[in-house]
Order: sequence, then C-alpha cells, then structure tokens
Amino acid sequence: MYRIAPSLLSADFARLGEEVRDVIAAGADWIHFDVMDNHYVPNLTIGPLVCEAIRPHTTATIDVHLMVKPVDRIIPDFAKAGANMITFHPEASEHVDRSLGLIRDCGCQAGLVFNPATPLNYLDHVLDKVDMVLLMSVNPGFGGQKFIPSTLAKLAAARARLDAYERESGRRILLEIDGGVKADNIAEIARAGADTFVAGSAVFGAARAEDPNRYDSVIAAMRAELAKVAR
Ligand code: DX5
Ligand code: ZN
Repeated sequence: MYRIAPSLLSADFARLGEEVRDVIAAGADWIHFDVMDNHYVPNLTIGPLVCEAIRPHTTATIDVHLMVKPVDRIIPDFAKAGANMITFHPEASEHVDRSLGLIRDCGCQAGLVFNPATPLNYLDHVLDKVDMVLLMSVNPGFGGQKFIPSTLAKLAAARARLDAYERESGRRILLEIDGGVKADNIAEIARAGADTFVAGSAVFGAARAEDPNRYDSVIAAMRAELAKVAR
C-alpha cells in the first residue's frame, strides 16, 4: 500500500549499479531517478544513458523525475532506456496534455510534478491522463533540503481530489511526495495522504563504511513508522 522510492541523487555515482541492487535488496520498492538540466533547475545530473545503464540491475520501477525544459524531446529516450514512470513539471511544458499523452504512447506511466508554489489546478482537465501526482516538499534542484511544512495541507487537498476522482472513475492515481522525507516525518506525511515516498539523503546519507546494513535499517525504520498509520 505504501511505496518507498530512494532517490539516486544521494547515491554514490561511481557505483550506481551496486547502489540500485543494494537499496532494492534492503526493501525499497522503486528507484527514483532525478533528471536536472541546469536550466529548469540550477543543477545538472543524469540522463537516458545512465537510466539504460542501471536498468539491468533491477526489475523495480524506475521513476524518472524530469526537471528539464522542454520535456517532449527527451521523453522517448527515457522510455527506450527502460523508465517505467515519467513525471514532469507542468511549467516546463508548453503543452501539458500532449506531454502526458506522449509518455503513455511511449509505454510508460505519466505523472505531473508540483513545485511548492505551483497550484494543483493544472490537474483540472487532464486527470484521465495522469497516473501519479508528485508534490515537491522542497524547491527542486538539490537533495538534503528541509521538508516545507505547508506541503501537508497541499497533500490533503490533493488526496481529497484524487479520492473523489477514484470514486467516480474507479481508477486510483498515486500520490508521491519528494523532498526532506525522513523516518521521523514519514508518518505524518502518510497521514496527510501520500502513498509513495521519495527519500534521497535519508536513505543514502550515512557512510557505507559506518554501517553495512544502513539501507536495511533506514528502510525498516520508515516501514515501521508507516505501519503506525491507519488509513
Ligand atoms: C530534488 C529531488 C529529490 C531529492 C530528494 O530536486 O527531486 O528527489 O533527491 O532528496 P532528499 O530526500 O534528500 O530531500
Ligand atoms: Zn525527485
């Protein structure tokens, strides 16, 4: 019922394949893959070639979070590279409906990402083309930032909206949260309505040498917190 999606942004980039295998073996559900272009966000990360390189290391969902502008040119490349879910920021696409359709036409699931100040009304006319809503609880561009508390109210609003849509359509849209998620706040984030949790620095933060089982213990701590949440 809950998915934990470690963000590779905080992994060891010199050993990405091993990091992917280790974190999935430790109980993670998805791999969150942050794509930044030094244009839409002030940082530069990884692209389709790296997605293709990690694909053989896991059968888990690769959740590609595009922080790039424009978005359409690169979508088919990520689909070919083995992405399962592709999300983008509506402000970064001139044609949101077209970009969502393109992602699905390429055989992937599609999602929209909302920055802290981006209103949810981008969902108004496209919910039937959306498989996941991702709320940013930090401003995108960097790992290790603090969770912005006003995201909790926004999550609750998104939850209500997606629940109403499920009642009328029978289709469940996932609600993911990204930024500043730790074992000590994941329960209240789940209570506000999230069902899928990105965590970068919380999972990959501690040095491997210090604790060889660190991924197992962090992910187990998050699951234990989630188990306390009744929904
Ligand atoms: C930020 C990225 C996040 C980031 C989260 O722009 O989208 O996925 O890696 O990192 P933490 O969990 O450290 O906030
Ligand atoms: Zn992300």
